[in-house]
Amino acid sequence: MHITVIGSGYVGLVTGAGLADLGLTVTCVDKDPEKIGMLQQGSVPIYEPGLEDLVRRNQVSGRLKFSTDLTAAVQSSLVNFIAVGTDAGEDGLPDLSQVLSVADAIADGMDEYKIIVVKSTVPVGTSAQVHQRIRARLKRPREFEVAANPEFLREGAAVEDFFHPNRIVIGTRSDRAAAIMKDLYRPLYLIQTPFVMTTWECAELIKYAANSYLAVKISFINEIANLCDSIGEGADVHAVAHALGLDPRVGSKFLHPGPGFGGYCLPKDTRAFVHIAKKLGEEVKIVEAAVAVNDRQYLRVVQKLRRDLDPLQGKTVAVLGLSFKPKTDDIRESRPIAICQALLQERCALRVFDPAAMERARQVLGSKAVTYCTDAYQAAEAADALIVCTEWNEFRNLDLGRIKESMRGQTLVDAKNILDPRQVAGLGFRYHGIGRS
Ligand SMILES: NC(=O)c1ccc[n+]([C@@H]2O[C@H](COP(=O)([O-])OP(=O)(O)OC[C@H]3O[C@@H](n4cnc5c(N)ncnc54)[C@H](O)[C@@H]3O)[C@@H](O)[C@H]2O)c1
Repeated sequence: MHITVIGSGYVGLVTGAGLADLGLTVTCVDKDPEKIGMLQQGSVPIYEPGLEDLVRRNQVSGRLKFSTDLTAAVQSSLVNFIAVGTDAGEDGLPDLSQVLSVADAIADGMDEYKIIVVKSTVPVGTSAQVHQRIRARLKRPREFEVAANPEFLREGAAVEDFFHPNRIVIGTRSDRAAAIMKDLYRPLYLIQTPFVMTTWECAELIKYAANSYLAVKISFINEIANLCDSIGEGADVHAVAHALGLDPRVGSKFLHPGPGFGGYCLPKDTRAFVHIAKKLGEEVKIVEAAVAVNDRQYLRVVQKLRRDLDPLQGKTVAVLGLSFKPKTDDIRESRPIAICQALLQERCALRVFDPAAMERARQVLGSKAVTYCTDAYQAAEAADALIVCTEWNEFRNLDLGRIKESMRGQTLVDAKNILDPRQVAGLGFRYHGIGRS
C-alpha cells in the first residue's frame, strides 16, 4: 500500500517513518523545502529519540521518501494523512487554514479513489468539513472517503508510542474506509493494540477530551503542591500524590507537580476545547480551571526565587532545561522558556543549558542578557541562583558539590522535584521544591 503523509513535523515524520517500518511505501510531504532537503540528505530536523535511525533505515530500504510535490505523492497513494499544524486562530478556535489548504490540494490532485485521513488535532465537525470541501472542489466526480485518526504520541517517546500505542482511534463513515485503515495498522492490531472504531465526531472529541483530562490532572496536583507550600513543615506533595495514585480510580500517572504543562498540545488543545464548547453554547468549567491554574503556575518558580533574591534585578540565574519536557528539542509553550522570559523582564541575566533545545531557545530568547552554556556546570558559574526546569536524566545526578562551589549564591529551585531536598540542603544550598518543604 502507498501512503502519503502531509506535514513532516513531530507527528507526520514519526507517522510516516513508522508506517514505512511496518512495510508500507510512504512519501512524507512538506511545504518547507529546507526541511525536505535535509530529510532527503538523511538528517532529521527535530530531536526525537530513535527517529533518526528509523528514518535512515527506511530511506535505505526505499520505503520512505521525502518530497515537496503534494500532487504527485497523492496521485501515487491510496491513503493520505493530513498532519499539519493547527495553531490557535484569532477567535481562540484552532486555525484550520493549513488543514483546509491541504484538503484543497488533495482534491485538485485526486485522480482515483482516495482516503484522506485527518491526523491533526481538529475540532468536532472538521472531518465533515474536509469531506464537503473536497466534494465541492472536485472538477470531476471521484470516489473518496475521509477518516479521523487523532494522534496520541508523546514527544520524547514518539517512536516508542508509534509502535506501542495505548489505542488507535479511527472515525469513519464507511465500512470500506474502516477496513483499509484497519489493514494499514494491521501489525499493531496483531500485537493487541485496542482499536476504537467510531464516528468522525467521537474521534475528534476523544482527542480533546483526552488532552483536557491530562491537563486537569496536572493542574490538580499543582494546586495540591501549592497548598503544601503554604502548609510548610510536614507537608509533601509527593506523599499525597503517591497515596492518591494508589487508588486505581485515580491512577499514579500525571500526578507530578511542577511549573505547569507546556508543549504544542496541552496548552493549545485545552484552550481550544474551551472555545469549541463555547461555540456549542456549553461551558467546560473544569478545563477552564485547569487552564487558569496552569497560566500562573510557572510564576510560582519566579516567586520562590524572589523570596531569596529580592530584588531580582541584576541577579544572575542559571537555568537548566529549556525544552517543555525531557528528550525533546520542542520549546513551543515551554514553561522553562516562560520562566526565562519572566526573569528577563525582571532584568536578570541568564546562563542557560539544555541538552537538545539550545538553538531553538536562542531564536526565542535572543542573546542580549542570555549566555548559552555548554553544560550544567558552566551554566552554574557565578550564578546567584540555579533553577532545574526540565527533568532531563543528566540533571538528576549532577555533582551538586561542584555546582555549589562555582556559584555565587546558594539558592536552588527544583521546579520538577527531581533532587533530594536533604542532600541539596546538606551541601549548603537553600532548596526550594514545588510542594515540599
Ligand atoms: N507534537 C505532538 O506531540 C502532537 C501529538 C498529537 C497530535 N498533534 C497534532 O498533530 C498536528 C501536527 O503537529 P506537529 O507537532 O507535528 O506540528 P509541526 O509544526 O511539527 O509540523 C507541521 C508540519 O506541517 C507542515 N505544513 C504546514 N502546511 C503545509 C502544507 N500546506 N503542505 C505541506 N506541509 C505543510 C509544516 O511545514 C510543518 O513541517 C497538530 O494538529 C497537533 O496538534 C501533535
